[in-house]
Amino acid sequence: MTERALVEKALSVRENAYAPYSRFQVGAALLAADGTVYLGCNVESAAFGAGQCAERGAVSAAVAAGRGPGDFAMLAVAGGGLEFCVPCGVCRQLLYEFAPHLPVLCANEAGGFIRKTLDELLPSAFGGFPGGKETK
Ligand code: THU
Repeated sequence: MTERALVEKALSVRENAYAPYSRFQVGAALLAADGTVYLGCNVESAAFGAGQCAERGAVSAAVAAGRGPGDFAMLAVAGGGLEFCVPCGVCRQLLYEFAPHLPVLCANEAGGFIRKTLDELLPSAFGGFPGGKETK
């Protein structure tokens, strides 16, 4: 899976985003180490706080399919306009849970993208407290 192909998947699923309030559609494609790609798009609600970002949708799909910490190789996020879409702070924290060094491709609507890592996006991250992490 090339970076370009992963960005294209994020752009494709972006078209399914339900964003009637912000009108800002976002798509996310999360590549697992075994080559599987998990997709997410933002889903909004009239009760604004009930909406969910594309990235967390992709993480949820991956976890529901049995993936977990250490299973993720790369993430692509695509938003509208020509700004490169970076994950919000809440999504950064959730992604950190599963892949602290994850490469993140931040794309715009035209398919251009920049590369970041989660380390860069979330420096000095909170990683949990002693005895606080339950594992399978
Ligand atoms: N959004 C995402 O889905 N991912 C991001 O990385 C940034 C923001 C969504 C949340 C909301 O539905 C809309 O974009 C506007 O903030």
